[in-house]
Amino acid sequence: MILPIYLYGNPVLRRQASEVNMDKEELKQLVADMFETMYNANGVGLAGPQVGKSLRIFVIDSEPFKEAYPEEEIRKLAFINPVITKRFGEEYPFNEGCLSLPDIHEDVYRPESIEITYLTEDLEKKTETISGCVARIIQHEYDHIEGQVFTDHLSQLKKMIIKRKLTDIASGKVHPAYKTAKK
Ligand code: NI
Repeated sequence: MILPIYLYGNPVLRRQASEVNMDKEELKQLVADMFETMYNANGVGLAGPQVGKSLRIFVIDSEPFKEAYPEEEIRKLAFINPVITKRFGEEYPFNEGCLSLPDIHEDVYRPESIEITYLTEDLEKKTETISGCVARIIQHEYDHIEGQVFTDHLSQLKKMIIKRKLTDIASGKVHPAYKTAKK
């Protein structure tokens, strides 16, 4: 089922999300719905708060980066109760966008690599070291479960430049092609 996506300005995006604690069937359904919602909107990642659920969960699929980064492994994963335990390597800029902030694309600096511990959708515990695009997507999604969005990382000047765009999104003036939630 395609879920409505919550846009910038909705308080759910600013809340620190809670640990996921639901039964396996319910979790499987949520993960399936989140993937379907993400693909429908042509996203590469989607976090719980973006579908109005203040829960520590996100899904990613790096497939769209295959052509631009052929040397990287494509990962399609669900992360339940993830913890980024280390961030390392050089910080570099990458042009990010977000389904909750339609029409805004800005360079964000983040470290190259992370170490992350998480549960899979089968509640299997994993720890992995991940670099490149996939580490980038994960760090962006991880921000969402901490109540942050990518524009929080921009300079004061950049923030001023995009302020009008953010206000337009928050006041319901932006209508992306995918289903969004009413405030
Ligand atoms: Ni996002």
